[in-house]
Amino acid sequence: MSETTGQRPSGRGRFITFEGGEGTGKSTQIKKLADRLGAARLRTLVTREPGGSPGAEIMRHLVLSGMGKLLGPDAETLLFAAARDDHVRTVIEPALKQGVWVLCDRFADSTRAYQGSLGSVPAGLINAMQRVTIGDLKPDLTIILDLPVEIGLARAAARRGSGTPDRFEGEKLAFHQGLCEAYRKIAADEPARCVLIDANSDPDTVAGRVWIALRDRLLPTPASVVSA
Ligand code: TYD
Repeated sequence: MSETTGQRPSGRGRFITFEGGEGTGKSTQIKKLADRLGAARLRTLVTREPGGSPGAEIMRHLVLSGMGKLLGPDAETLLFAAARDDHVRTVIEPALKQGVWVLCDRFADSTRAYQGSLGSVPAGLINAMQRVTIGDLKPDLTIILDLPVEIGLARAAARRGSGTPDRFEGEKLAFHQGLCEAYRKIAADEPARCVLIDANSDPDTVAGRVWIALRDRLLPTPASVVSA
C-alpha cells in the first residue's frame, strides 16, 4: 500500500478497481495511473485484495497458501469476504472520505469471477456476503484488463521464476479461460461501471487506453485536470 501526496480535491475521492486474470499487468497499470493522477495533483492510495490492511493481509496468506481451499469453496469465499470487510472499513472508506483517489488491485468482481463463475459458489451467497462487507460501496470505475490466457500465464510464470504457483495460478488452462470469459461478461453486464481494456500491447500503450477510459468517465472536463 502506498500513498502519494498532492493537492486534496474537494469532496469524496474516487474508487477505481482493476480486475483481470493472471499476468494481465494490473499492478504495472495501477502504478502508471497513480503516477499520472499524482502528477495531476490528486492524492492517490494504491492498495490490493486480498489484503491491503494488516488484518486482511493475514487472510491473504491463508487463501493464497491454499489453506482456505481445504475448508471448501463457501468457507474460502468467507475468508475473502472477511478480508474485504476489514480492508473497506479500515482503509478504503476512510481514504475516500478524505478525498483520496483509491486504486485497488482486485475487489468484489474477483469474488464473482473466481469463486462465483469458476468456483460455483452460489450467487445468493456471494450477494449476501457483499451486502455485509461492502454495502453500498461501488467502484466509480472498474478497469478490466483483457489478455489471451496463454500470454497472461506465461507472464505470471516469468514473474514467479522458480517459485511455486499460488492457489489460483496452479489451476488448469480451462479455469483461466473461464476466468477471461467471466470478466468479459461482467464488463458486458455493467457497461456504466466497467471498461474492458485490450492489454495485449506494451505497457505504455495499455496505460494510454486506461487513461482515456478514466478521463472520459471520471474527468468530464479534461481541461480542469490534465490533458491526455
Ligand atoms: P495475487 O498474487 O494478488 O495475484 P494477481 O497478480 O493475479 O492479482 O493473488 C490474488 C489471487 O486471489 C488471484 O489469483 C485472484 C484471487 N482472488 C480471488 O479468488 N477472490 C477474490 O475475491 C480476490 C480479491 C482475489
